Amino acid sequence: MAVLPIVEVPDPRLRLVSGPVDAIDAATRAFVADLIETMYAAKGIGLAAIQVGVDRRILVIDLQAEEDAEGKPVRDPHAYLNPEILSVSDELSVYNEGCLSIPEQYAEVARPASCRVRWQDEQGGDHEEDMDGLLATCMQHEIDHLNGVLFTDHLSRLKRDMVMKKLTKMRKMA
Ligand code: NI
Repeated sequence: MAVLPIVEVPDPRLRLVSGPVDAIDAATRAFVADLIETMYAAKGIGLAAIQVGVDRRILVIDLQAEEDAEGKPVRDPHAYLNPEILSVSDELSVYNEGCLSIPEQYAEVARPASCRVRWQDEQGGDHEEDMDGLLATCMQHEIDHLNGVLFTDHLSRLKRDMVMKKLTKMRKMA
């Protein structure tokens, strides 16, 4: 397993529409393991393949909501291959989102509060599930990445400019 370098804005690869995963094989599973390791190393709760420069419809999520007796997050990673949103709720929820490709910047984004998602796992098995709460938000954020969309695209131009200015300032100070 390997920690892969994360692609950051304004890298044009983040605007690519990722293609489907046709063959779910050992190489795919090895890549999924790398993606999961990279997500943990970067302290993220979700990561899409294009964020490490691979334009395939693969993403991993671990909300790390559970804690063990010592207060450490319990790891429960999930891989979603060829994920598709089948339907969304009219009801919206607002979450303060961040993104490993837009480091250390956060903004409130309104998205459907729940969604029904279909995907394949890394063994090729088919799944369909209703998601809500943080999982629904995270899933929609990550599927956006597969379509070349960033969370800042959901903001007003004023807010988006503010986020990008803060990022530029932070990079200069680093
Ligand atoms: Ni992101």
